[in-house]
Amino acid sequence: MKMRTHTCGELRPADTGAKVELCGWVDSVRDHGGLIFIDLRDRYGLTQCVFDPQDSQAAWDAAQACRGEYVVRISGEVRGRPPEMLNERIATGGIEVRSSGIVVLNKAHTPPFPLDDREAAHVSEDLRLEYRYLDLRRPGMQQALMLRHRILQAARNYFDEQEFVDIETPILTKSTPEGARDYLVPSRVSPGMFFALPQAPQQYKQLLMMAGMDRYVQIARCFRDEDLRADRQPEFTQIDLEMSFVTADDIMAIVDGLLARVMVAAGHPAPELPLPRMTYREAMDRFGSDKPDLRFGMEIVDLAAVFAGTHFKVFARALEGGGVVKAINAKGLFQAPIKMVEEDWTGLAKDGGLGGLAYIRVQEDGTWKSPIVKFFSDDEKLKLQAALGIEPGDLVLFGADKAEKVLPVLGRIRLLAGAQAQAIPADAFRFTWVTDFPLFERSDEGRLVSVHHPFTAPRPEDIPLLDTDAEQVRAQAYDIVLNGTELGGGSIRIHDPAFQARMFQVLGLPESEIQSRFSHLLRALEFGAPPHGGLAIGADRLVMLLANGHSIRDVIAFPKTQKAMDVMMNAPSSVDDKQLRDIHIRLAAAPKPEG
Ligand code: AMO
Ligand code: AMP
Repeated sequence: MKMRTHTCGELRPADTGAKVELCGWVDSVRDHGGLIFIDLRDRYGLTQCVFDPQDSQAAWDAAQACRGEYVVRISGEVRGRPPEMLNERIATGGIEVRSSGIVVLNKAHTPPFPLDDREAAHVSEDLRLEYRYLDLRRPGMQQALMLRHRILQAARNYFDEQEFVDIETPILTKSTPEGARDYLVPSRVSPGMFFALPQAPQQYKQLLMMAGMDRYVQIARCFRDEDLRADRQPEFTQIDLEMSFVTADDIMAIVDGLLARVMVAAGHPAPELPLPRMTYREAMDRFGSDKPDLRFGMEIVDLAAVFAGTHFKVFARALEGGGVVKAINAKGLFQAPIKMVEEDWTGLAKDGGLGGLAYIRVQEDGTWKSPIVKFFSDDEKLKLQAALGIEPGDLVLFGADKAEKVLPVLGRIRLLAGAQAQAIPADAFRFTWVTDFPLFERSDEGRLVSVHHPFTAPRPEDIPLLDTDAEQVRAQAYDIVLNGTELGGGSIRIHDPAFQARMFQVLGLPESEIQSRFSHLLRALEFGAPPHGGLAIGADRLVMLLANGHSIRDVIAFPKTQKAMDVMMNAPSSVDDKQLRDIHIRLAAAPKPEG
């Protein structure tokens, strides 16, 4: 005997007359003039079950006693609905189950919040996470998890076809330099020693290339103790790959194919391949960001030619000092609120180190309203109009200073202006590669640090700059960007042991640290390492974007809160003294109470 004959999403008018048994959760109980209607819900859908006291008084009584979220088994017969009763909104809307029996398999407390997709936004996320198993009953969450499955399944199939080998790498490992703080695990067997949870399988996958595996892939869990945001979690998933005997072009082509495949798996049109590419320099110059959102225009325009020799002091000073004058044309925003432009956006500009944010509001009659145009010559106005395609209704926003300051500020304001103008289509998917990142940047303390990681190879023609002007060295590194979010990144790696050692020195690592942290890698490189490279895509971000979501927490079954806590399991939590003694740990102070 089976517990159920069908799921709650399965029955259709063609099943009319069938005797069925359905199991699921009571979504709602309604009493309509003596008839009781129970909407029964499971992962597959919703089926309306009708109880008529004329059919079975006992079943009717039991149905009436049911409450939301009770788990029940209902027996009955499928009946086609008359035309006026059809429910187009659900797949089973053409039928109902005339029910002759109901067994309560389990009762349920009233949930602490409505299990309703429309209501979810009004429920505190911490409460939803505390009762995540209830939150996950919502159709929206179930769809998100099923979409995640389809995307990862499509990825696995794709890599299998491309002869990648899926290989698991350790979770208990040694600290990897991906830029975040490590999660540490004390060793019981080796007192005072610690494992680190991997920030990424970076070194293992390189070692697998040295092991001759040629093409590696893993849906890999990564752990990073960093400040959390909507698109960051302390543990997250990467689609992680590495390939031998390849150039950057080969890796990008493999990822292009992957992204086309997952787009289709997610029910979206496949993007045209190859995906567009631009250099880091171009991304910064046109969009003021290394993760440009290509869904809308409002690109940054350089105005050096327009304002060469200008009498407007702010611009003249910038240009004379080796800086730039640039602007965006925020189309249609001439009526943007004063507070937004003069406080919020100007505040952003000042935070970014600019003296202010000059602007022009172009009235519908074509006149320019602006505190600065009085300083412009007629010729400058004409050239400006041509350079920015200025039309009635536009809002032009200027930044003048060093390019490194102006570009990020205008990039940020471009995004805000695009949102304000509702110029960013929510259902568009615009990918781009960003290539030729700088190899190094300066840390806050002024040290040279890797932009990607210290295994990334420079462009060969830039190697001479390593000793003279390291910050100008470009890396063989590439990011894949979707709708203004960094989806993934990778690089061609250094495979020459001497050059890798030199790279660690350029980064200022003392010899002792190079040995203690990287001797295994340097040694492996000396035993015949193939040229290799790879990339990792943030799987959570990928699913979030393809689900049109705003937070990766919505596509992870059991995410951590913004404070990096699991409020359902109550983790992290204190442990007892014996456990601490076993791992040779003594706490400096009594832990604060949880919560
Ligand atoms: P990287 O550090 O750029 O590269 O990470 C790759 C991608 O992982 C995602 N990601 C995250 N997602 C959620 N929460 C986080 N805290 C988080 N941090 C990163 C992003 C990012 O683009 N080993 C290299 C890859 C390589 O060189 O092959 C690496 O990890 O989408
Ligand atoms: P000020 O001469 O400082 O009063 O500035 C005149 C106008 O130029 C004001 O609208 C300022 O917001 C703007 N402004 C000042 N500094 C900058 C800058 N670095 N970039 C863009 N606009 C600026």
